[in-house]
Amino acid sequence: METEYLSTGFKDVDGAQNQDAYFECLTLLDSLPYYREYKTRSYALLELHPGQTVLEAGCGLGDDAFRMAERIMPGGKVVGVDASTAMIHKARLRNRTARLPVEFLAGDIKALPFASHSFARCRIDRVLQHICEPQQAIAELVRVLEPNGLLLAYDNDWGTFAIASEAVEMTRTVERCWCDSFTNSRIGRDLPDHFRTAGLSDVIIRSGTSVITDFEMADKVYNLRATVQKAVEVDLISAPQGCIWIEEQIERTVNGCFKVSLTAHTVVGRKRRPA
Ligand SMILES: C[S@@+](CC[C@H](N)C(=O)[O-])C[C@H]1O[C@@H](n2cnc3c(N)ncnc32)[C@H](O)[C@@H]1O
Repeated sequence: METEYLSTGFKDVDGAQNQDAYFECLTLLDSLPYYREYKTRSYALLELHPGQTVLEAGCGLGDDAFRMAERIMPGGKVVGVDASTAMIHKARLRNRTARLPVEFLAGDIKALPFASHSFARCRIDRVLQHICEPQQAIAELVRVLEPNGLLLAYDNDWGTFAIASEAVEMTRTVERCWCDSFTNSRIGRDLPDHFRTAGLSDVIIRSGTSVITDFEMADKVYNLRATVQKAVEVDLISAPQGCIWIEEQIERTVNGCFKVSLTAHTVVGRKRRPA
């Protein structure tokens, strides 16, 4: 099966050649301590309590929806929306055994099938990096939020993506090739501005940096081999240079010197009550 390029493929998982690659990627990320920690912190920042109705936008396989459902029981409900019918199908199957108060729907964040003021809380996690016009998506999330409700977004700032290497220029080329493939590579740093433009108040920012010290793990998360291949195909680097660079990274792992880091931001804002 061909390697899926995750940064672009998440825009249209249903159109992908190997959908399992996207399911596996989300399952892997969800198992990593850094991800578990920021996700758990995000539920606390949302001040979830029993009886609330919560929207998880771009829910993927539904892990966050399930964990939030445990916090809004009894009486509450989580709705997970995702553009991919394949993701929604998987998420629904998982809830057949869990039987949590969660409903999964296929839909586009930029045109949500809900009345205004339907949700006490909205959460969106690593989705805005993949979609055009993120401001429109944020405005739509604010529309469906109740007055005084909270919106939380977590997203990456790909301008901070950094791989340790002695081959500085070559590494910069690989970093740029991967980061520029995202629709919104700077969304993490732009979130607070977008929240204020959308009229949200009490905006708070929590930032974190994930660090991976194993090349094979980093390759799974950041598609490093496929990125080198892409850089070769568009003549940014030669094939031998690419091979040497990958060998250097593998050697760095063996020597305990491999490091790739990325900073991301969690931003929370409150919808104002009408004056
Ligand atoms: C990187 S995954 C993150 C999934 C999940 N939020 C998580 O943290 O595991 C991005 C998700 O956004 C979905 N997506 C992309 N564009 C979308 C859109 N316009 N509307 C709804 N979902 C979208 C993809 O199908 C994918 O499931």
